[in-house]
Amino acid sequence: MSQDSRIGVLFICLGNICRSPLAEGVFLHKINEQGIASRFSVDSAGTGGWHAGEPADARAQATARRKGVTLVSRARQVRIEDFSRFHYLIAMDESNRENLLAMGAPEDRTHLLLNFAAQQRLREVPDPYYGGDDGFETVYSLVDLGCTGLLTELIRKHGRDWS
Ligand code: 4NP
Repeated sequence: MSQDSRIGVLFICLGNICRSPLAEGVFLHKINEQGIASRFSVDSAGTGGWHAGEPADARAQATARRKGVTLVSRARQVRIEDFSRFHYLIAMDESNRENLLAMGAPEDRTHLLLNFAAQQRLREVPDPYYGGDDGFETVYSLVDLGCTGLLTELIRKHGRDWS
């Protein structure tokens, strides 16, 4: 990011229609609330490309809407250039993380979202795609905790006024 001093954060899951669009939307909501959105470049992507071009799953959108969060992203597959464009590659589960590493993602940039939610027992955000609506509530709560922890860590590490 030579000409862009923003902190790049990319959220990654398998399909990019359930978990990572939720994480992207929740993180954007938090940085907008705090008035620090211009410091960040935020996106999401999937390790798989089956849903490329689609909006987030209707259940993810409905869950987010109930919390006052709008999901605007369209699905896309992870690209190799993401590994240099984004400083933080935030995977939803171990399988996503392993796929990223196998594609050549730098280990020191590749994290599990829930590693930023130390109070949380789970380390992975479960895939809600084949489950019911309540799975999306669980995913939302986990993603919210993870994004809060991630943002706290980024502010601690980089300050509020890096530029
Ligand atoms: P996500 O959920 O990785 O949270 O977006 C999934 C979406 C689609 C599929 C799997 C997981 N799929 O197999 O199409």
